[in-house]
Amino acid sequence: MENRELIRLALEAREMAYVPYSKYQVGAALLTKAGKVYKGCNIENASYTPTNCAERTAFFKAVSEGEREFAAIAIVGGYAGVLTGYAYPCGVCRQVMMEFCDPKEFRVITAVSEEEYIDKTLEEMLPYGFGPSSL
Ligand code: THU
Repeated sequence: MENRELIRLALEAREMAYVPYSKYQVGAALLTKAGKVYKGCNIENASYTPTNCAERTAFFKAVSEGEREFAAIAIVGGYAGVLTGYAYPCGVCRQVMMEFCDPKEFRVITAVSEEEYIDKTLEEMLPYGFGPSSL
C-alpha cells in the first residue's frame, strides 16, 4: 500500500478521537504484512491515566483479532483543524511496536498531510530497544 493511502486512513481515524480533556486528536493506521489496515484513535478518560494512544488502539485491535505481522504504521495528530506539526509516537507506543515488529523493517510514518511525512524504521525511532529477542 502507498504511504499516502495509509496516511489518508490515519486522517480518517483521527476523526474518531475521543479527547474531551487534551483536545489533541491523534489517528493511526496500522498495515499488516498481508495488506490489511487497522485504524485507531486516542481515547481519553476523566481519570487521565487510562487514556489510550491512537497507535496502541490500532495495535490492540489488530492483535486481538489474531494479527501478528506488521509492515508499517501512519500517525497524524494535532488540535482541531489543519495539522501543523508531526505527532511522534510516545515511548510507550514505541515499546508496544517493539513487541510485535522487526525494528529494522517496520516503518513508522509520521505525517502532516498525505504528501508531507517522515518515514523511519522502528529502529531509528527506538534505538537500542528492548524486545522479545532480548530475552
Ligand atoms: N497521544 C497519542 O494518541 N499518541 C501518542 O503517541 C502521543 C499522545 C495522545 C494521548 C492523549 O490523548 C493526547 O495525545 C495528548 O497527550
